[in-house]
Amino acid sequence: MVKILLTGGAGYIGSHTYLALVQAGFDVVIFDNFSNAKEDVPLRLQDLCGHTVDVVKGDVLDRRDIADVFNAHDIDGVVHFAAKKAVGESVEQPLDYIHTNVGGLLNLLAAMDDAGVRRIVFSSSATVYGDTDVQPIPEDHPRAYTSPYAYTKIAGEQILEQLSDDWAVGILRYFNPVGAHQSAMIGEDAEDIPNNLMPYIAKVATGQLEELSVFGDDYATPDGTGVRDYIHVEDLADGHVLSMKSLLETNQSHTVNLGTGEGSSVLDVVGAYAEACGQDLKYKIAPRRDGDVAVLTARPDKAKQELGFEAKRSLSDMCKSSWAWVSGQRRNVK
Ligand code: UD1
Repeated sequence: MVKILLTGGAGYIGSHTYLALVQAGFDVVIFDNFSNAKEDVPLRLQDLCGHTVDVVKGDVLDRRDIADVFNAHDIDGVVHFAAKKAVGESVEQPLDYIHTNVGGLLNLLAAMDDAGVRRIVFSSSATVYGDTDVQPIPEDHPRAYTSPYAYTKIAGEQILEQLSDDWAVGILRYFNPVGAHQSAMIGEDAEDIPNNLMPYIAKVATGQLEELSVFGDDYATPDGTGVRDYIHVEDLADGHVLSMKSLLETNQSHTVNLGTGEGSSVLDVVGAYAEACGQDLKYKIAPRRDGDVAVLTARPDKAKQELGFEAKRSLSDMCKSSWAWVSGQRRNVK
């Protein structure tokens, strides 16, 4: 059985990818320091997949922790999620972000090289495109950073591009991942006051927050609010399976956008969520948020051509699954 190491595998995207890989027939080991994941995630994954989940508690900043995993397991490929991801926090703690995201990647690559494991899927982000009017964005658009977080993603991509030909690398640029697993057993554990749109709306829906502030209604978009390419986290997880399969089968590297190619405005998302949860959601128009762009959407063609990837789930599916998760409608999907 092909064995895959998931760094950050207990996190939001990592845990969904765990399930998708297991369903595709891979043997998977999770490596996570649980700094941004609940300790019971492996138990929930175990309930869902019906077998013991291999978990190693460790840190990508600790070279011995990583080396130990490669010594204990016969790994064929790695999906690397373990990183920090909050744009605002990265502005306050740039060195910490660079240390964890770039330093962690370097430690991992060194351990992989020592172990002779040279296939890696890397979590990148649409943030690498910077502030651009080119929409939808193709992968050959120049990279530019607008935050230390974005810098770490560009640096990670550039480091991976320096590796020799015996490496095969999948760089996946995520657009806006939202939603939760169909079982509602795993999903995003949002902060008390989320920075991102859908987790914030979810807390308005559950009554934990009073109302949403819509950041700007005077953008050059159909309803004046910001437009983004939201992608269901289960579609995103499937993208990782296809990326890893491609690396294992072809030994060729790829860099692709993972998005739907469809843009939804803030008010589109509010409307779809209101329908999913069956109640009106209170919002007010607020000033634009610093650093936001009007529109950010993916050109999804390359992922389709190179990996056969196509997002299947709609905005309604994203909102319904998020609502099922935050309102605790657990379902057994075994
Ligand atoms: C942000 C990150 C991006 C990251 C992504 C993860 C920034 C600048 N970018 O993208 O790097 O990959 O999250 O999902 O932080 N909005 C509101 N009210 C809110 C929150 C958001 O109106 O309370 C609006 C925003 O102005 C934007 C849209 O909703 O138009 C989406 O915002 P958000 O979910 O924060 O994602 P991004 O900013 O696109």
